[in-house]
Amino acid sequence: MKKLLSILLAVLMVFALVGCSNTTEPTEEGGETADTVKIGVCIYQFDDNFMTLFRNNIQAYFDDLNTKGGTQYEVTIVDGANDAATQTEQVNTFISQGVDALIVNLVQTSSDALAKAVEDSGIPCVFINREIADYQYSDKTCYVGADAKDSGTYQGQIIFNQPDHGDLNGDGKVSYIMIMGDPENSDAKNRTEYSIKYLEDNGVEVECLYQETGNWDQAKGQELVASALASLTDKIEVVFCNNDGMALGAFESIKNAGRTVGKDIYLVGVDALSECCEMVIDGTMTGTVLNDAIGQATACCDTVLKLLAGETIATKVNYVPYLMVTTENAAQILKDVYGK
Ligand code: BGC
Repeated sequence: MKKLLSILLAVLMVFALVGCSNTTEPTEEGGETADTVKIGVCIYQFDDNFMTLFRNNIQAYFDDLNTKGGTQYEVTIVDGANDAATQTEQVNTFISQGVDALIVNLVQTSSDALAKAVEDSGIPCVFINREIADYQYSDKTCYVGADAKDSGTYQGQIIFNQPDHGDLNGDGKVSYIMIMGDPENSDAKNRTEYSIKYLEDNGVEVECLYQETGNWDQAKGQELVASALASLTDKIEVVFCNNDGMALGAFESIKNAGRTVGKDIYLVGVDALSECCEMVIDGTMTGTVLNDAIGQATACCDTVLKLLAGETIATKVNYVPYLMVTTENAAQILKDVYGK
């Protein structure tokens, strides 16, 4: 009888192991065993200030879970180097390795081919930061990001809230330049449109002097603003940048051209990088918008865990709110978000 029981137990254990897709490995302490869940994370480009915060927060989330014992999360984060072919290969490698879940920050959103390949693999996946327009997510996939229209609206509002509504030279219109992220990106499109829309909706006349693509990049932002300032000189009243990285570059060129933010030019960005919060406090940036990397990383990882547990995600497109950042709250943001 005893022998029969132990055979039965052994058979049951084999079934339990086969039934579980995750691998079971010894813990550091030895003896005890814990599940290991493999998560593949594809970032469009490591060399991006905001996505660096985002990916560090994803890593921190799972590191924290790992310290609690129990299931261990093995997170592998790869750099797509802003190259669609490289990223397709990376995603396919994760799929063929049989990772348990994926987090994908697409290089290219103009095509849904890669998203479709992920769907076909049946691996749960959360797409982040770069939304594919009008995409139908399946049972095992969804999106976590932020509604970029709001960030544009806040940028417009920051300028509108200035005593002269952005019209520094008093000629009855706001003359601005727009430094855009990559043109296919919905964040870039919406920020460009909605920042200006807010001013127009509030009865402000606007004039676009210059609009160029800076690809979210600080050096490119600096270069574009330098050339705009050289040709348009003091006609420019407002510099709108689709992100803070490019605003940091813009600031260098503004300084080099002998202009002073808050006095003879306004400068706004999006993200609320810690450097930019400091600049808002000391007046070298007019304002920015918090793009909540911690909130989005948390929502993303929470969703990964739910998908792994087989839960259905009702909200397929999950937006974490933005927050307007001005002299009034920049110090608080610096403290709350960066602990400074
Ligand atoms: C951020 C940018 C970043 C881009 C990458 C945007 O939401 O504001 O800083 O470069 O995402 O896709």
